Amino acid sequence: SREEMEQRVYEIKKQLGKELFIPAHHYQKDEIIQFADAIGDSLQLAQAAAKNKEAKHIVFCGVHFMAETADMLTTEEQIVYLPDLRAGCSMADMANIYQTEEAWEKLTSIFGDTILPLTYVNSTAAIKAFTGRNGGACVTSSNAKKMVEWAFTQKERIFFLPDQHLGRNCAYELGIPLEQMAVWDPISGDLSYEGDLQNIKVILWDGYCSVHQGFTVENVQEVRKKYPDMTVIVHPECAFEVVQAADLSGSTKFIVDTIQKAPAGSSWAIGTEMNLVKRIIAEHKDKYIICLNDNMCPCLTMNRIDLPHLLWALDIIIKGEQGNVIKVDESTTKEALLALDRMLQLA
Ligand code: 13P
Ligand code: SF4
Repeated sequence: SREEMEQRVYEIKKQLGKELFIPAHHYQKDEIIQFADAIGDSLQLAQAAAKNKEAKHIVFCGVHFMAETADMLTTEEQIVYLPDLRAGCSMADMANIYQTEEAWEKLTSIFGDTILPLTYVNSTAAIKAFTGRNGGACVTSSNAKKMVEWAFTQKERIFFLPDQHLGRNCAYELGIPLEQMAVWDPISGDLSYEGDLQNIKVILWDGYCSVHQGFTVENVQEVRKKYPDMTVIVHPECAFEVVQAADLSGSTKFIVDTIQKAPAGSSWAIGTEMNLVKRIIAEHKDKYIICLNDNMCPCLTMNRIDLPHLLWALDIIIKGEQGNVIKVDESTTKEALLALDRMLQLA
């Protein structure tokens, strides 16, 4: 039964003590969050993993790229596990290293040495390594604006991947007009742009988050009509038009903190993943909060991590068996760390 499984997780946690560390992303289900040693957005979890030196076993409750990042930021002796290997990220899967190298070859043939890669942490370790060896840095949704600003102190243009929306939203906020942004289509291997290519400041990889693309301008308009006093807050993985139509946008941490600070009686429509929206609603009974999209928007891969998978991962550790270990090879780690460290130093 569920109660027995929960009891067993408590027992194992107690038995392993500080040897075990369970980081959980804000989008995880409550049945996982209750056991988390650290809850946060992707930046906070990366920092928590980098800081933790005593846990031998890190059972990462999030998606594959987060577990890879945790592995790269921890020591050789620490082992990172992902309770279900099917917990991937469709956005991270939209950029593979072969397409990326091909794009870089073409872009550098057009722009020479005037371009710097910036890679959202929602990407494979191989793309982070590509970024590191080409002088670029990683970004997360809570520091993307700062990192785009930094990138422009290094080079004239940026190549932002894999999330076109986060890239576009940040660059626009920094005053770069849409006319100076172009989208790189990895399938056709082409840059969609009309006019003089040398005017381009930002090249956006044609990737997106299918969860956040579920929020639309119509959703915002409906909320405006139905609840004129409601504040609309969305994640910057939402499309440009949606972010423009909303009142506020920011990372999952920004959303959590903003609602926390909001006065009792205020009303909010939130455009981000369903598990987090439901939790915020449950924790703020003094505020009126809805999901921006009536259908809610679940991240199916985040949801693959559930109580049975967590218990299975912990049981394997107790038995001393192998489990779903996430291990990035040494040379990839070395180059990816260049990009991650540039971010962590500035963040
Ligand atoms: P943050 O945790 O950086 O807000 O990103 C949200 C997300 O989509 C994670 O996959
Ligand atoms: Fe990937 Fe989007 Fe799910 Fe985050 S919410 S893990 S970006 S698919």
